[in-house]
Amino acid sequence: CDTWIRLLTTFTGLLALLLYQRVAYPFFWLDLIYYLKLRGYRKTLHARMQQGIITYLDCFLYQARRNPNKPFIIFEKQTLTYQDVDRRSNQFANAFRTEGSLKQGDIVALLMFNEPDFICVWLGLCKLGCEVAFLNVNIKAKSVLHCFQTCGAKTLVVGADLVHLVEEVPPDLKDNIAMWVVDHMSPSEEFRSLLDKVEHMSGETLSDLPNVDIMSNFLFIFTSGTTGLSKAARVGHLKAIVSMAFFEMCGATADDIIYITLPLYHMSASLLGVGGCIHLGATCVLKKKFSASQFWKDCVKHNVTVVQYIGELCRYLVNHPTVPEEKAHRVRLAAGSGLRSDVWMEFVNRFGRIKIREGYGLTEASIGFLNYTDEVGPIGRASYFNKLSMPFELLSYDPQTYEPVRTDSGRCIRAQIGESITLNMKVIQSFMGYAGNKVQSEKKLLRDVFETGDVYFNTGDLLFHDYRDFLYFRDRIGDTFRWKGENVSTTEVSEVLGLVDFIQEANIYGVTIPGYEGRAGMAAVVLKQDHQLNGTKLYNHLVKTLPAYAWPWFLRVQTSLDVTETFKQQKVKLVQEGFNPDVTKDPLYFLDLSQKDYILLTAALYEDIVSGKIHL
Ligand SMILES: *[C@@H]1O[C@H](CO)[C@@H](O)[C@H](O)[C@H]1NC(C)=O
Ligand SMILES: *[C@@H]1O[C@H](CO)[C@@H](O)[C@H](O)[C@H]1NC(C)=O
Ligand SMILES: *[C@@H]1O[C@H](CO)[C@@H](O)[C@H](O)[C@H]1NC(C)=O
Ligand SMILES: *[C@@H]1O[C@H](CO)[C@@H](O)[C@H](O)[C@H]1NC(C)=O
Repeated sequence: CDTWIRLLTTFTGLLALLLYQRVAYPFFWLDLIYYLKLRGYRKTLHARMQQGIITYLDCFLYQARRNPNKPFIIFEKQTLTYQDVDRRSNQFANAFRTEGSLKQGDIVALLMFNEPDFICVWLGLCKLGCEVAFLNVNIKAKSVLHCFQTCGAKTLVVGADLVHLVEEVPPDLKDNIAMWVVDHMSPSEEFRSLLDKVEHMSGETLSDLPNVDIMSNFLFIFTSGTTGLSKAARVGHLKAIVSMAFFEMCGATADDIIYITLPLYHMSASLLGVGGCIHLGATCVLKKKFSASQFWKDCVKHNVTVVQYIGELCRYLVNHPTVPEEKAHRVRLAAGSGLRSDVWMEFVNRFGRIKIREGYGLTEASIGFLNYTDEVGPIGRASYFNKLSMPFELLSYDPQTYEPVRTDSGRCIRAQIGESITLNMKVIQSFMGYAGNKVQSEKKLLRDVFETGDVYFNTGDLLFHDYRDFLYFRDRIGDTFRWKGENVSTTEVSEVLGLVDFIQEANIYGVTIPGYEGRAGMAAVVLKQDHQLNGTKLYNHLVKTLPAYAWPWFLRVQTSLDVTETFKQQKVKLVQEGFNPDVTKDPLYFLDLSQKDYILLTAALYEDIVSGKIHL
């Protein structure tokens, strides 16, 4: 009888505990399951490493051995199997070795649109042990060289359809650079053609694949902007192989057909997307460029089951007129980042039952969240388990300066729940810093945060932490803003504007417009004495120097920059006032692309922009 009572009390106790858990920690099990899944993944990773599969390339070779005849890339009318890509990349590797004497440790810049040879060239270079730097195809001629200098590349491989960009660079500046064009013939003597050589090369496996150190550098990716000052972030082998788990963590399998429309020069497409596909041994349908009108047609045509997105892409799809294919497809999973809740609602209502897995990641640091609950909106969780697997901190910040708040003794403060915060990542080895730019790397680091000598990576992202431990993305602070899926660096744009003869000073920031992701560029400018604003001239200058997404859509002409306020304070105020002509007396202008000019921003024009009548 005694035992019975004891059992009963234990049982009621357990029941009470379970009930308590459901009320107080409703996400306990989901958090735990995700944590175990991550741990499970780490175990698999370790097991694979024991078998010698430690790099992106190893993982590809492993799949090529296991499933040689499985389709890997479908592009337009071509289908390449894992074996095809393996052989072709061997041919590229041999061509680069015999004709270009490339060897382990050389840095090679790659400037190509999405196409199978992007991947074959890249893997070929990996097979020689070269480090590859991906250049943004929106780059302007003058930045090509800058990118070379920052990452130390001596060789450039350029797609046949991008040759004109390189031709614009003055010849004397290209003296020491070996330039290859991915074509059968060379357009000029500056370039060496690659495809005619590749045809004669052996596709047999290279006998001397390089031995790489997992902590060494794998790639350079230019994180922000495409103009003079973009930063080359190093991506280590470890980070690359961890990124490859993305689709698996989202629930995709080897049987999936994955549609990738994002540009391969971004990490999300090359590492999470193509890498994720390789990790699974799945098939990837690659698109040269995202097209809202083709999207669902392609999905139906190729039986796509998984798509990779960024927020902007989903908004384009939702804004696009209805097509019959949008309900006839078999897409079951969409994985990516940057989806806002309003778009998500419409996305699911319109395109059918698609599971959405929202992740949040950063190029430079190895922090990542994955949405594993059924909550709409948050980018991740700050749960106990999540912190176990990934050391990060959420710090209070000063809304005026955007810097973390420090106490009298110089320490930072952990944020309270319900407060806006900045996300800071404890620096472990994986943050390799920006190539050749100590100062920029240092600017991203916070030192002596909680104790002397500790170092954190400051993501510069503002998040909101709610009482259930969900994290919401609020804004990106500091010197970049996002527009059309690209980062715009404000310092780069203001330098470019500063070159115009009538502008004395320019302060660049992003303003929000209802119905658009990210922020549209705006410039507060002070004109030089005795000079007039000349919109046509400014437009012509922008066309020559900046990619379209970085152009300021709005101008605000000020008589002087307010010196009583700090630079950052002024920026905050300008951002708040936006481009509403009712709020400020300063003359405002709007970039009218059809007129190739900046025109006066009237109240009526403002209404048309805000209501969506005029499209940006
Ligand atoms: C798509 O699936 C259908 C039905 O399973 C099949 O008949 C068709 O051949 C597939 N199309 C492609 C491109 O694989
Ligand atoms: C934009 O910048 C952020 C932070 O520097 C980075 O994590 C992200 O990958 C960048 N995105 C692109 C498309 O370069
Ligand atoms: C997170 O995933 C759930 C379940 O798939 C989904 O309902 C929710 O919308 C997602 N959240 C975001 C922000 O995508
Ligand atoms: C503005 O600049 C353009 C091109 O540089 C020039 O042709 C035009 O005369 C200028 N307009 C004025 C009013 O100065």
